[in-house]
Parts: sequence; C-alpha cells; structure tokens
Amino acid sequence: MINRQLVVTGVGYKEAKPTDADSSVFTTPGIKPNMGACVAQHAAIAGYQVTIAARTSEKLERVRRSILQRVPQAIVRCHPTDVLDPTRVESLLQSLPTEPELDLVQCAGASAGSFEVQDGNFFFPIEETPLHMPTLEFETVVKSLLILVQKALPQLKKQRRSRLVVVTSMSGMRAFPMGFSHCAGKGGLHEAVRSLALELNPMGIRVCEVAPGIVNTGLYDSPAVDSMVRRISERFDYHYSPGGIPEMTPDAVADAVMLCLLSDAHVLSISLVSDGQFPHQSS
Ligand SMILES: NC(=O)c1ccc[n+]([C@@H]2O[C@H](COP(=O)([O-])OP(=O)(O)OC[C@H]3O[C@@H](n4cnc5c(N)ncnc54)[C@H](OP(=O)(O)O)[C@@H]3O)[C@@H](O)[C@H]2O)c1
Repeated sequence: MINRQLVVTGVGYKEAKPTDADSSVFTTPGIKPNMGACVAQHAAIAGYQVTIAARTSEKLERVRRSILQRVPQAIVRCHPTDVLDPTRVESLLQSLPTEPELDLVQCAGASAGSFEVQDGNFFFPIEETPLHMPTLEFETVVKSLLILVQKALPQLKKQRRSRLVVVTSMSGMRAFPMGFSHCAGKGGLHEAVRSLALELNPMGIRVCEVAPGIVNTGLYDSPAVDSMVRRISERFDYHYSPGGIPEMTPDAVADAVMLCLLSDAHVLSISLVSDGQFPHQSS
C-alpha cells in the first residue's frame, strides 16, 4: 500500500432525482460520480490518504461516506473550497497533516453549477456565445491552477517526490465548431500545464496532464448538450443518434490519473476518447 496523501479538487456527482443520502454515489442508479470523485476512490483503494475539495459540502460528505463503504479503513477528509479563492486554497493546504508526502490532482472545472447557462450547455454557435463565457471558461481552470500551484509550491519543493496531475480536455488540443469559449479555455489550460511541466521539473515536481474526450458524468444528459455534441460530431462525419453519444466512464479517467501518480516514469500526458468518439488530436 502506498503511504502518501492526495488532494483532489472538483469532487462531486450529479443525480437525476433525489436519492437516499446514505446510498453510495458510485453504485446507486441515477447518480453519476464525476472524475474527481472516481479519482478519490481509486486513490483511497491504492492507500492514499485523500482530501477532497469542491464548493458543495453535502456532496463532498456523501462522496466521503461512499468511499468508506468501499474502503472502510480509508482516510478521507472533506474541505469545502472555492478553488478561485486563494485564502480558501491556502486554508485547505494548511489543514493537511505534515506527513506523509503530498500529491495533487486538479479536476475542478466546468460544471452546470459553475456556469449560469441554460440547460447546462456551454457549446454555442458563435452568434449565441455569451460575452462572459470565454473569461469564465478560462478563469475556472487556468486561474484556479495558478492559485493551487502557488500555494502548494513550498511544500512540493521540499518533498522527495511530488506529482501534480491536471485533468484538462481533448477540447484544448483539437478545436471544434461551436466551441469558441470552451476550446479557448481548455486550450489555455493545456498550454499552462505544458509550461508548468517545464518550469517545475527542475524543482523535482512532475506535472502530468490527462486529457479526456467525452466522459459520462451527466453533462451530456441535457438534451441541449446532446443536440450540440451531435451537431459538432457531424462536422467530423460522425453521426450519433439522439442519446447515442459514446461516453467513457469517469473510472477510465481515474485509471489514467492513477498511472500518472504511480508510474516510475514521468507520464507527460495521456489523451483518451470514448470508444467510438472522433479520435482527432488536432484540428
Ligand atoms: N465530462 C466530460 O465529458 C469532460 C471531458 C473532458 C474534460 N472535462 C473537464 O474535466 C473537469 C472535470 O469534469 P467532470 O465532468 O468530472 O466534472 P463536473 O461534473 O463538470 O464537475 C466539476 C467539479 O468542479 C467543481 N468546481 C467547479 N467550480 C469550482 C470552484 N470554483 N471551486 C471548487 N470546485 C469547483 C464542482 O463542484 P462544486 O460546484 O460543488 O464546486 C464539480 O465537483 C472539468 O474541467 C471538465 O470541463 C470534462
């Protein structure tokens, strides 16, 4: 068993309708854990002490209880945190025990709750793209990563071994139509991670990127999103039926994150699309 601790941001889930608060977010029909939740569970299974962060404390508590149902001996701490608030991020890091050594996984990013857009959809034809969206998409992922790295750097520099895994997106590597603000935000994050990997490597900090395509975290359950993604895919000559968009599980992404955390090698980046999704890596 590994003797390390891990902070995972962006931990939560979506439920189609209210379910029993004691039932597991990982096994209850109608609940979809997100990537952060699955990373936290995989890391707890591997032996990490895990601290989970997002803004919604009830969701964090339920994810924690769900992990403990699966791994009763796990150490899982919840720290409700707005990752865009440097004071809260500092308080999160200061709340951690000084040992064992710390790794970080940043999953916080776009969710219906973070975006005041109709139907949870953030893919828009250019004429309909709200003017605030590019900044919102960019800030949520890029500024939050800057805050996390600045606050964690003193600790990461001191350690014998330090890993930072950032969940980005295939949308940052290959643009698509109706993705003006989304591709710009994720493209900015992708370049920020590449710059970080170069700058922090001489300090002994290994930065890794995991870039997923379409993941089943509930985002695509919205008919508006489903419709936009089918329109986008048609531009690449992929014709999915309504509701038939191929989605990978968030567990598949968690597997990739665990490889970055545990490998002897410094895994620079892993890009993965769902089975059947258009597999373009650049436009
Ligand atoms: N789903 C996909 O198909 C897909 C594919 C590729 C990349 N991605 C990206 O991967 C990341 C994770 O996606 P996901 O689908 O697993 O998650 P998600 O369901 O979209 O949830 C995002 C998480 O980030 C948290 N969050 C948002 N703003 C925050 C803030 N200011 N402070 C703290 N936490 C915040 C949310 O929790 P609270 O609202 O409780 O704070 C939520 O737990 C996102 O950046 C997403 O864009 C998603």
